[in-house]
Amino acid sequence: MKKIRIAIQKSGRLNEDSLQILKDCGISIDNGKDQLKASSRNFPLEVFYLRNGDIPQYLRDGVVDIAIIGENVLIEKGEDISIAEKLGFSKCKVSLAVPKSVKYKSVADFEGKRIATSYPNTVKNYLDSKGVKADLHIINGSVEIAPNIGLADAICDIVSSGSTLFKNNLKEVEVMLTSEAVLAVSPQISQERTVLLEDLRFRIQSVLRARQ
Ligand code: PRP
Ligand code: MG
Repeated sequence: MKKIRIAIQKSGRLNEDSLQILKDCGISIDNGKDQLKASSRNFPLEVFYLRNGDIPQYLRDGVVDIAIIGENVLIEKGEDISIAEKLGFSKCKVSLAVPKSVKYKSVADFEGKRIATSYPNTVKNYLDSKGVKADLHIINGSVEIAPNIGLADAICDIVSSGSTLFKNNLKEVEVMLTSEAVLAVSPQISQERTVLLEDLRFRIQSVLRARQ
C-alpha cells in the first residue's frame, strides 16, 4: 500500500505542535530528529522534515502530498495550494513595525521607506492595496535587527508574543494578516492517497473537537 507523504517543519515553532497533533491522532512516528525522513508504525504515513519556506514548492511539485504549515507561508508563496483543515495552533500575525521613537500616523508613512522582510509578496500586496510604494529588502531571519543597524526604516515579520519587537525597540503599527497552522494539500495528490488524507482529516477533526 502506498503511504501518504507529509511535510512538517524541520525545526522551529511549528515542529513540536505538528508532531503532537499527529500523535493525538493516534499516529506514532519513529522519530530520529537527525533524520530528514521518518515513518509511522501504525499508519501508512511518511514524514519529511523540511524548511518552512520550501514546503509550498514541494507540494506544488507533488514530492509530498500534504503538509502542516503556517497559513502565512502559503499566503506568501503558495496561493495556488489548497487548505484542507485549519489546525488552531501556532497563531500569529504578520505585521509592519517601526522604531518606537517614530511618530507613526498612517500607512502612507511607509511611502519611499526601506522595509526589511522575509515576506515581500505579502508586504507588496498590502502596500499596493493602499497605494503606497516602498523599497523592500529581503532577508531570511533576524529581520527585527535591520532598523538598529541602519539597513531599513521599518520591518515586516511574524509577531507572536511580541517579545522580539519589544527587545529590538520596535512597535507594531499595521497588522497585515493573522495566521495559524493549516493542513495543506498538493494539487497533485493521487486518488489512492486522497483516501488516506480523508482518514487523517477525520482523525484531526475529532482531535480538534476534543481540544475545544
Ligand atoms: C520568529 C519571527 C519573529 C519572532 C516572533 O523568529 O521571525 O522574529 O519569531 O515571535 P515573538 O513575537 O514571540 O517574539 P524566529 O525566532 O523563529 O527566528 P528567525 O526570524 O531568525 O527565523
Ligand atoms: Mg525572527
